Amino acid sequence: MAIVMAGTVVALLVLFFSTVKTCYPGCRCEEQSFGMFSSFSLTKVDCSRLGPSTIPVSIPFKTSLLDLSFNGIHSIEGTVFSGPGYTTLSSLNLSNNLISVMNGSVFSKLHYLEMLDLSWNSIQDLVEGFSGLLLAEVNLSHNRIHEINLDVFCVQNHGRPLSIDLSYNLLNSVIRRKLSQPLNIQSLDLTGNELISVPNLRDISLRFLTLDDNPILVIHEQSFAGLKNLIYLSLSSMPELHTIKPQSLQELQNLQVLDLSNNIKLKTLSAEVFSGLTALQELNLSNCWVMSLPANILQLLPSIKSIALREGVNCWRIRTQKQFQIHVGQSKAEEVLKCDVTGVIL
Ligand SMILES: *[C@@H]1O[C@H](CO)[C@@H](O)[C@H](O)[C@H]1NC(C)=O
Ligand SMILES: *[C@@H]1O[C@H](CO)[C@@H](O)[C@H](O)[C@H]1NC(C)=O
Ligand SMILES: *[C@@H]1O[C@H](CO)[C@@H](O)[C@H](O)[C@H]1NC(C)=O
Ligand SMILES: *[C@@H]1O[C@H](CO)[C@@H](O)[C@H](O)[C@H]1NC(C)=O
Repeated sequence: MAIVMAGTVVALLVLFFSTVKTCYPGCRCEEQSFGMFSSFSLTKVDCSRLGPSTIPVSIPFKTSLLDLSFNGIHSIEGTVFSGPGYTTLSSLNLSNNLISVMNGSVFSKLHYLEMLDLSWNSIQDLVEGFSGLLLAEVNLSHNRIHEINLDVFCVQNHGRPLSIDLSYNLLNSVIRRKLSQPLNIQSLDLTGNELISVPNLRDISLRFLTLDDNPILVIHEQSFAGLKNLIYLSLSSMPELHTIKPQSLQELQNLQVLDLSNNIKLKTLSAEVFSGLTALQELNLSNCWVMSLPANILQLLPSIKSIALREGVNCWRIRTQKQFQIHVGQSKAEEVLKCDVTGVIL
């Protein structure tokens, strides 16, 4: 026990000194340790709100999270994200800046970057380079993107950055696990951009996709082709969206949640729109003008659990027991959608 305590004291002292010594002026560095004898640590560096001259910043060894939000940064070029501390960076926050062109090659040294927050910038163009990264989550919400060139995110060459020096790296086990997994973006948030149609994201193994608040008018057939891993899709708050074409969602065989709420011009949804959605559990039609659903909706959506039909009207699938008169005692379960407003049962 005494040894454990002494160990903790030493660890705290080391931690204290290293924090003071290595933190860039104006940034706040915080090291969190986990495990017995603090064998795992997570260094967060918060350099937000320092002003446009912030970058490049030097960051401590083994930094995991770097926050560069609210710095008025216009552009990022060259090798600003390189150097010892960057090798282990898993999360980079560049939100709330003024970036208009994002050249993905600036991230090329961030081999273990998992989360990239670029929300609330002025990005119109995404150019090259994101493809060599391990990136799992990209937040591009509230920018000015008109279209997405698929090459930016796709893996053009399958070579992995295996020649990296991992010797100082306490995240080793995490990294080894990641390296054996396919390289791809799983979560993409494109809320509040200027997309006029669903971007072609074929071949990205996305699981979560948000396209809310874009000026999309029509969701065309096959819009989501190739996205069979998608489990969450949000197409909410699109002021111009009036039509979802039949079979447009067809390939989304693993989709569990579909949010179509706040689409005030969306008035009808044909039965064919729902074809192929065999795993769908939750459907949100709140604040749309869709007045009726296909009568066989429970057959069309065999996994559905709840539908938010209108604002404040939620429906659930329930089983009712029907007694058969002829064969006394035999009963058959029938499924209906029951809504929490009296008198409305579909
Ligand atoms: C992106 O940056 C790289 C490296 O700085 C440069 O070679 C390339 O030309 C840039 N691409 C574009 C489209 O600006
Ligand atoms: C990035 O920074 C912004 C502004 O400080 C914050 O709202 C947001 O949650 C951060 N993103 C992540 C993923 O932590
Ligand atoms: C993306 O960023 C916005 C703004 O910071 C935030 O509200 C949203 O939740 C983020 N999206 C995801 C999927 O985390
Ligand atoms: C449906 O969407 C509305 C509006 O976006 C939201 O307020 C509500 O919580 C959602 N309902 C469910 C059941 O997710």
